[in-house]
Amino acid sequence: MFVLAIESSCDETAAALVEDGTTVHGAVVASQVDLHAKYGGIVPEVASREHLRAIVPVIREAFADAGCGLEDIDAVCATRGPGLAGALMVGYSAGKAIAFGRDLPFLGVNHLEGHVYANWLVEGPAPVFPALCLVVSGGHTDLILMHGHGSYERLGGTLDDAAGEAFDKSGRLLGLPFPGGPEIAKLAATAGPSSLRLPRAWLRGTRDFSFSGLKTAVLHAVRDEAALPAEIAWEFQEAVVDVLAGKVSRIARELGVAEVLVAGGVAANTRLREELQERCSVPVRIPPPSLCTDNAAMIGAAGGQRLALGQRSPLDEDIFSTNDWTRV
Ligand code: KG4
Ligand code: ZN
Repeated sequence: MFVLAIESSCDETAAALVEDGTTVHGAVVASQVDLHAKYGGIVPEVASREHLRAIVPVIREAFADAGCGLEDIDAVCATRGPGLAGALMVGYSAGKAIAFGRDLPFLGVNHLEGHVYANWLVEGPAPVFPALCLVVSGGHTDLILMHGHGSYERLGGTLDDAAGEAFDKSGRLLGLPFPGGPEIAKLAATAGPSSLRLPRAWLRGTRDFSFSGLKTAVLHAVRDEAALPAEIAWEFQEAVVDVLAGKVSRIARELGVAEVLVAGGVAANTRLREELQERCSVPVRIPPPSLCTDNAAMIGAAGGQRLALGQRSPLDEDIFSTNDWTRV
């Protein structure tokens, strides 16, 4: 099945052509990051307008990249949520319009399920169940036990800030451009361990996370000039990575899962990738960085699996944001 997939949940307008949920034939991601940088974060209305401007050229470019046209696709899918409502609506409406115009099946895909399915786009044998999924994005930090395709059990998640949100807010405290995640990683790479020690919220006995205390500790460290900015960035990153890799490796062992699947923008972080590989006793899969951050290929991967099971979304259905993506 040859699917056109569209993603527009936040500040990336993306389209991809994906075959059977596993093979990418063409993929385009138009980032608005420069547009939002001067505001220090994403401005929803600016994002919606930019999606409107970009959506048709991005879809056209994805087809050109794949060397095919509308007549070659079997279905359309688009991100249905969670995300910014006005931003989601642009991609979702474009997807529905194409499906309606060509009389094709249409499916709305959950953005976070899409992140997890980026792991099916990597060459080689498919992931094995049961798998422990760590989803670390700008808005979510979820720990999910995946029993099979579309079968999820939520084990825990953040009680306050998402890991990416903590990176972004700490980046802002350090005076770094938005988004803070890659900027903190870059700055940290210029430093090394120092005597500065930031707190780790282990929340022992739970499968949950908390990053807001760490963010406050960064605020104090910056105000008190407790260390050089690069050393604060280093220790902040180590604190996030320590808790994520420490808890995931322990829970993977406790549950006896076959694999660990990592997903979302923060999974692009080199230190997190290194520590998860180092500490987990089962195979750890992490997509290449370009498939960790928002893209449409992952939506085509998740959508492809569901379309193959016969699932469809009615064209009179609208976007839908839910935080409990394990029940969609
Ligand atoms: O998944 P994503 O692209 O968008 C959402 O669904 O939220 O994730 C974006 C998040 C941002 O918070 C960004 O700072 C973070 O991923 N991020 C990183 C890195 N690259 C992106 N965080 C740490 N290290 C990175 N290299
Ligand atoms: Zn995302």
